Amino acid sequence: MQIRIYKNYEALSEATANTMLQTIQLKPNAVICLASGHTPLLPCKLFVQKRKEQNVDISQTTFLGLDEWVGVPPENEGSCHFFLNNTVFNPLGLNKNQFHVFDSISKNLEHECEKMDAAISSKAGIDLMIVGIGLNGHIGFNEPGVSFKNYSHVIKLDEITVTVGQKYFSSQTKVLKGITIGLQHLMEAKKVILIANGEKKAAIIKKTIEEKVTEKIPSTIMQIHKNGLIMLDADAASLLPQNYLHETE
Ligand code: F6R
Repeated sequence: MQIRIYKNYEALSEATANTMLQTIQLKPNAVICLASGHTPLLPCKLFVQKRKEQNVDISQTTFLGLDEWVGVPPENEGSCHFFLNNTVFNPLGLNKNQFHVFDSISKNLEHECEKMDAAISSKAGIDLMIVGIGLNGHIGFNEPGVSFKNYSHVIKLDEITVTVGQKYFSSQTKVLKGITIGLQHLMEAKKVILIANGEKKAAIIKKTIEEKVTEKIPSTIMQIHKNGLIMLDADAASLLPQNYLHETE
């Protein structure tokens, strides 16, 4: 696991966007899995902007939505699908067959999981995952206690996720379950970048890096990924020992 620390969110976002572009330049038919939420907002915007400026061909690239709130439709501005549509899929002008997301209002969520797993297998795996981190150490909706061996699955959301998740919705929205790509997919992905910014993430980042690998803190899985990278702004890195800080870019 590598750690890179950037002076601020803008620099972190720029570096994340550049990595996404480089991945596609090296492998035009790359499969890229994206988290939603506040952290990936600027990285995704910069990716779309730079893609246009540099005229990078994305016609063969596939994008995956990491997760979704069960029961929340894509028209709801708090849904992950809404975020990805608005920030990435529509601005890039992707064809329908270039992205896969969970339909969390489907009556058959098991089948949604099977479809996502099949999409990933048919593309020979994920090349790059850009994930965020919850205050409880979740990645996607892989909540504390989840098995590292899970592929896509439906999960009861942790209390912290239910509470913090309200920040995405304009009015109180009942969210009790999530549907998510699993940590076995993450382990099999060729590269995983966990991004975090802001002081509020500093404590969980410290645990992610320093605690023993445990399913109680799903993000500790980053320590055992063969090509895992944690990219932080200075605030999210503020509780790490000084020896990490020389890596600041
Ligand atoms: C959302 C997702 C979540 C978020 C995490 C951090 O698709 O996968 O795990 O990445 O909750 O959210 P933000 O970035 O809003 O702090």
